[in-house]
Amino acid sequence: MTGQAFVTLATNDSYAKGAMVLGVCLRNHETSRNLAVLIGDDVSQPCRSVLSQIFDEVCEVSVLDSGDAARLAMMKRPELGVTFTKLHCWSLTHYSKCVFMDADTLVLCNIDELFEREELSAAPDPGWPDCFNTGVFVFQPSKETYSRLLNACKEHGSFDGGDQGVLNSYFSDWATADIAKHLPFIYNLSSVSIYTYLPAFRHFGRSAKVIHFLGEKKPWDYEHVGDDDGEDEECSSESEQCRSSSQYPDYVQQWWSVFKSSVLPLLPEEHAHPLSDTPSVEQESVYVEAARMEECVHLPAPQTSSQDRKQKWEQGDADYLGEDSFTHIERKLDSFLK
Ligand code: UDP
Ligand code: GLC
Ligand code: MN
Repeated sequence: MTGQAFVTLATNDSYAKGAMVLGVCLRNHETSRNLAVLIGDDVSQPCRSVLSQIFDEVCEVSVLDSGDAARLAMMKRPELGVTFTKLHCWSLTHYSKCVFMDADTLVLCNIDELFEREELSAAPDPGWPDCFNTGVFVFQPSKETYSRLLNACKEHGSFDGGDQGVLNSYFSDWATADIAKHLPFIYNLSSVSIYTYLPAFRHFGRSAKVIHFLGEKKPWDYEHVGDDDGEDEECSSESEQCRSSSQYPDYVQQWWSVFKSSVLPLLPEEHAHPLSDTPSVEQESVYVEAARMEECVHLPAPQTSSQDRKQKWEQGDADYLGEDSFTHIERKLDSFLK
């Protein structure tokens, strides 16, 4: 099906690594559709070369930035202005239909059935379920829609400073018009929901098809997370998550497993570390965090007082991939159950 494609976006080398893992997973699960990645000019040559080995099409686009510091500050995500670049995907008119996926998604099984859906199909956003989340959506490339979207950006901006605000305003009847356009949550299971509605995750989580590492910390922000049982869980076509399993998977570890086995061997040494972009003060703190995470994975003892953690949790500032990771919560629950 060359007329249809999965599309993702990476404006820099960090997100490019996410895109690589996403592309490898889609291939491992034998998609029959093309793979396309939109990149910004900050993506380095070595990363472009790896992307071109995984994707059918690597398409450089101009980076569009909302520049809306005020609204982005409300989300505590100043870096998300460039998600306006996502809108370029409507210009891919050599495809009749596409599925966009954020570069921070992990695909657990074949999801080609998404192409049976119409524009604009998407799953609810976990923070405001009358809005759709733009980490995974089905769309139809069209020059007309593309220019209307760009106009909407210019005229009204975006209520969240990123693509999700604009797209929800443009496709404003999504919540009410057609239930077929509501993708089941298992196609965009944001990691935050595991923590905000744990019983539901326990009940439905084993059917998950796509994990979305929504939020500030991404799998590539951590040093390699060691495998719990020493086995490498490949993102193979017969993934554990697509079969029923009573085990709770560690998705960050799965991301790393794919990165290690299928992406790392393609990257030249100096680009192999996921944090190899120009180091910044912020990134250094991520290194510290990564070291702490390593400890967390192997040593269950919390690093901050439980009072501080409780307060942070209540303020919505949980360390989902670190101290408040699912592995820890599960361990605690298990200890109560015992
Ligand atoms: N993105 C990018 N460069 C950036 C920020 C975002 O390429 O600096 C792209 C990437 O595809 C990413 C998507 O925009 O997955 C949305 O950003 P992110 O996933 O960080 O947002 P979240 O899902 O955490 O709200
Ligand atoms: C959301 C989405 C992401 C989008 C961002 C900015 O949280 O997960 O895909 O780019 O908001 O609107
Ligand atoms: Mn995302």
